[in-house]
Amino acid sequence: MTSAADRLAHELLGRLGDKVVTSDRAALAPWLTDWRGRWTGEAAALVQPGSTEEVSTIVAAANEAGVPLVPQGGNTSMVGGATPPEEGGVLLLSLRRMNRIRSLDEHARVAVCESGVVLETLHEAATARGLRFPLTLGSKGSATIGGLVSTNAGGTQVLRFGTMRGLVAGLEAVLPDGSVHDGLSGLKKDNRGFSLDQLLIGAEGTLGVVTAARLKLAVQPADHATALCGLEDPAAALALLQRLEGETDQVEGFELIPHDSLEAGLRHLSMKAPLARAHGHYVLIEATGNGDEPSATLLERLLGEALADGLIADATVAATEAKSAALWRLRDGLSDAEKQVYGLATQHDISVPVEAMPAFLEEVEDKVEARWPGVDVSGYGHLGDGNIHLHVRAMTRGSDDWREGEGVEIERFVHDLVVAHGGSISAEHGIGQMKRDELARLGEPARLHAMRAIKAALDPNGIMNPGKLVP
Ligand code: LAC
Ligand code: ZN
Repeated sequence: MTSAADRLAHELLGRLGDKVVTSDRAALAPWLTDWRGRWTGEAAALVQPGSTEEVSTIVAAANEAGVPLVPQGGNTSMVGGATPPEEGGVLLLSLRRMNRIRSLDEHARVAVCESGVVLETLHEAATARGLRFPLTLGSKGSATIGGLVSTNAGGTQVLRFGTMRGLVAGLEAVLPDGSVHDGLSGLKKDNRGFSLDQLLIGAEGTLGVVTAARLKLAVQPADHATALCGLEDPAAALALLQRLEGETDQVEGFELIPHDSLEAGLRHLSMKAPLARAHGHYVLIEATGNGDEPSATLLERLLGEALADGLIADATVAATEAKSAALWRLRDGLSDAEKQVYGLATQHDISVPVEAMPAFLEEVEDKVEARWPGVDVSGYGHLGDGNIHLHVRAMTRGSDDWREGEGVEIERFVHDLVVAHGGSISAEHGIGQMKRDELARLGEPARLHAMRAIKAALDPNGIMNPGKLVP
């Protein structure tokens, strides 16, 4: 029996050709499983438009036929946000072919990128013109602009320039009825009411398909420096952060790494330990120079003082570009390394107010390890943003179905503590299909009501990425 999705795929094949529409299983297969390998879905066809007009044709036809679309960029979601549902009956809408940088204006310092532009490609294009796009993250070689916008991505350099939300100066998007929202005009002031752009940022493709973004670029710094500090615990790391922020606005990244995560990272990449001795925790710091004092000198001076005051136990400032890159490779590889070295774990991308993080980490570690003896709680990540990736490693308790059983109880327990500390159950990875039930359980009534009402108003037929985000 042919389904509505099969019929729509056939219709679109006739209208747009086989460069855009394919039902070939081999072409579909790589995109049906998420990056973490947790979810696998089904889709009648892979649809790869090459222009906004083609996206509009596809969305209008899908709306007409009542067939859901699952938008996908680089397929690097951490929450199953771009994986089709198990039962299929949908079309997988890949934006990867829309990969043109439409313009890059050095004077206005903006780039207009189509959704399929890979983050690293934008980095390179901006650098070639003496500018930079400051947001970066481990998956920069695959993650696309459309996905980064749709998830309001963060990463390791948010401290100074913010998340995607702060870097978007306008969007072009196709709304669920097929109409095109053109917000790329570059107006600096525009008060015609609701910001459709801001609504679409972080909407995870549930309110429409982002096709292009006007992105703010920054000037290249005079120089940059990377340092790794060894210190005792998250409280010391917070004290160091506060001290640095009191002295300079040149710190762009401040990443907390516990000893066991660093060990996993070193083993995973076959690297030598960067500091002579082991420490309970480490902090990776990225600073840029403003032309007054070289950033390496700045870090050496400030970290020297911290060392003298006993705030940190050791520090090294990378002496070469290669050493700096190696430290960042180590950091960016932590997610993979954790999986390889420690295996099964529940992973919680959470945030609390920055100053509440040490107390939160202590409490969550004590309580979870007391209640589930044998698990190992460890958190690494963006302390400067109050965002930690907290892992509860199953260790000896784990078996194949651990995550679906005890793991679910642990997840709820952790989330309840996050809420008690005034935090968020999703800091930067989004909700996707992974946290939808938890958002329904813990979301404030006003937030849930507004989300559901907006979804129903803009997408009455429920064709945009069903089963994700909106509870
Ligand atoms: C990281 C990813 C998992 O920070 O967000 O490593
Ligand atoms: Zn992260």
